[in-house]
Amino acid sequence: MSWIDEKAHLELARIREAREKQVYPYFREFETGGLHTTIAGKPVTNFSSNDYLGLTNHPRVKEAAHKAIDKYACGLSSSRVQATTVEHVDLERRLAKFFGFEKCLTFTTGYQAMLGLIAASADKETTLVLDSFSHACILDGTFLAAGVPGRAPEVRFFNHNSAKSLERILKTRERKNALVLVEGVYSLDGDRANLTEFVEICDRYDAVLAVDDAHGTGTLGEHGKGLIEELGLHGRVPILMTAFSKTFGGIGGALLASTEVIEMVQHAARSFLFSASLPVPVVAAVSTILDMLETSGPEMVRELHQKRDYMRGKLLEAGFELGTSTTHIMPVMCRDERKTLFMHVAMLECGVLMVPITYPGVKPGEERLRVNVTRGHTQEDMDTALELLKTYGEAFFVLSGEDIGPMED
Ligand SMILES: Cc1ncc(COP(=O)(O)O)c(C=O)c1O
Repeated sequence: MSWIDEKAHLELARIREAREKQVYPYFREFETGGLHTTIAGKPVTNFSSNDYLGLTNHPRVKEAAHKAIDKYACGLSSSRVQATTVEHVDLERRLAKFFGFEKCLTFTTGYQAMLGLIAASADKETTLVLDSFSHACILDGTFLAAGVPGRAPEVRFFNHNSAKSLERILKTRERKNALVLVEGVYSLDGDRANLTEFVEICDRYDAVLAVDDAHGTGTLGEHGKGLIEELGLHGRVPILMTAFSKTFGGIGGALLASTEVIEMVQHAARSFLFSASLPVPVVAAVSTILDMLETSGPEMVRELHQKRDYMRGKLLEAGFELGTSTTHIMPVMCRDERKTLFMHVAMLECGVLMVPITYPGVKPGEERLRVNVTRGHTQEDMDTALELLKTYGEAFFVLSGEDIGPMED
């Protein structure tokens, strides 16, 4: 056995154990798209999806993608430098207008958009200031920038969502330029960034604030423009990033900022320059969802909020703990790995998918089921899920908080 086979065998010990106990929860195979799908032939309602407005499978979106396939096929065989279409540029122009920024650049994934921003803008004169709960794309962009010889920025973390902690870091930073990176809505906890305070602090300490609002887009603000719209901070946040893999029904990322910042990233970000361009059928799908947001955004966001409020009320009434969530992302805290896995398996057997999040995704004691309510869920979906959560929440002592006790193998 080579060292790499030995290493793989050792590292997979936990996964093997979970598979043996039949509680391995990941990479389940959907047989159709959409919130209502099947897994191994059995109907399943997906409550861990990020299709927040339920538009991914809309007939108009699919039709637009079909038309784009006829015209452009599924790939352009190169990066944007030599594979840009009028559709890419048109989408960028429209997104800039929708979100109220001078310019937009689209990337093939949201992850790449964040990597591109950080790597292109941070150098040895920069301090990168990260919330301690940052998404992997922010962390990886930072690690990438920190590893470039001769350019490495200073890297500092502040306590999650703490304005005081952010201020302390900005005051004591060692480099002239600070880039502060936060998320609008945190994907595992469903809490909103303290953006109003962060904007003020960044102004005071001459720092640039960049917000990854992948989960706020389509879910917050009257028109679904995200946390910046909700808090009336338009024009106060210089850089916004969002992902198309949630509300926008596809894959890809958008970076929005001033014309010069965008053009700097466009000519320097290796995650943009050295990776193939966003397929045009996806551009067409995103563009169609943007049409829908422009024409009926407020109604759709209101509908999502009604469902969010209903589900939140019922979950709390039943006695579930939702951590720090204030949005449609409502983690059902189980605070024990086995309880979380058993809940997941039992719910799935009954046709409701709620993905378990366990260590190392979260700290031990913070294990939870990922529960995202979307506009695409029906009243019946929500009521069925709530009944099952109550039944198994009692059966596995999630509601009582008691220890689950020893289990027979
Ligand atoms: C907060 C946040 N930022 C960025 C991304 C990356 O987006 P994408 O899936 O398009 O790479 C995600 C997706 O998981 C996310 O949750």
